[in-house]
Amino acid sequence: MANTIIAPSLLAADFANLQRDIEMINNSDADWFHIDVMDGVFVPNISFGMPVIKAIAKHAKKTLDVHLMIVEPDRYIKAFADLGCDILTVHYEACTHLHRSLQAIKAEGMQAGVALNPHTNISLLEDTIQDIDMVCLMSVNPGFGGQSFIENTYDKVKQLRKLIDSKGAATKIEIDGGVTDKNARQLAEAGADVLVAGSHVFKASSPSETIVRLKELTAL
Ligand code: DX5
Ligand code: ZN
Repeated sequence: MANTIIAPSLLAADFANLQRDIEMINNSDADWFHIDVMDGVFVPNISFGMPVIKAIAKHAKKTLDVHLMIVEPDRYIKAFADLGCDILTVHYEACTHLHRSLQAIKAEGMQAGVALNPHTNISLLEDTIQDIDMVCLMSVNPGFGGQSFIENTYDKVKQLRKLIDSKGAATKIEIDGGVTDKNARQLAEAGADVLVAGSHVFKASSPSETIVRLKELTAL
């Protein structure tokens, strides 16, 4: 039975009760913490930076999956490694020398992810897929939580699955944005390995039961 990884996004947590929300994830069926870093340049919003991630890392007991929505991510790779991040994802659209950035992330002992904006074609990864541990398909335009899911994502998951299989790569497929109990199963069936969920989890009356439900829905 395929086990889909569920990664709640802390962007939707209550920042005044961050430790409480982190403990909720520690004690839940969730697999990873998804951490969104926005710089106000690559995306039209600013989230949080190093001091907050340091505080998160102190309490979080699961994989730290860090999604950089920033320009010039190379400048900060070592800093994120030093904070204890496990997976570091950079945007395809923000990297002039993507291959070099991927090698730099791995050299720091982290897994290397590449995120694609909704308009960015899967075929652009043909020459790098074997070097990528995870591709994050944005199913909304990055920058904000709580947006609606872009339906074209299902086709992109299938195309990406084909590319990964054709190259014999072990790359994981992550979906980020607008994930709910309405699309989770279809995404898992299309070939997604990791589902990020922000608002759907944290705005629910019971976040931990919502996580259980997502795990059940995506167990194929
Ligand atoms: C969007 C972020 C997402 C966001 C998802 O720019 O990358 O990770 O937190 O939030 P929801 O699940 O609310 O769409
Ligand atoms: Zn994200």
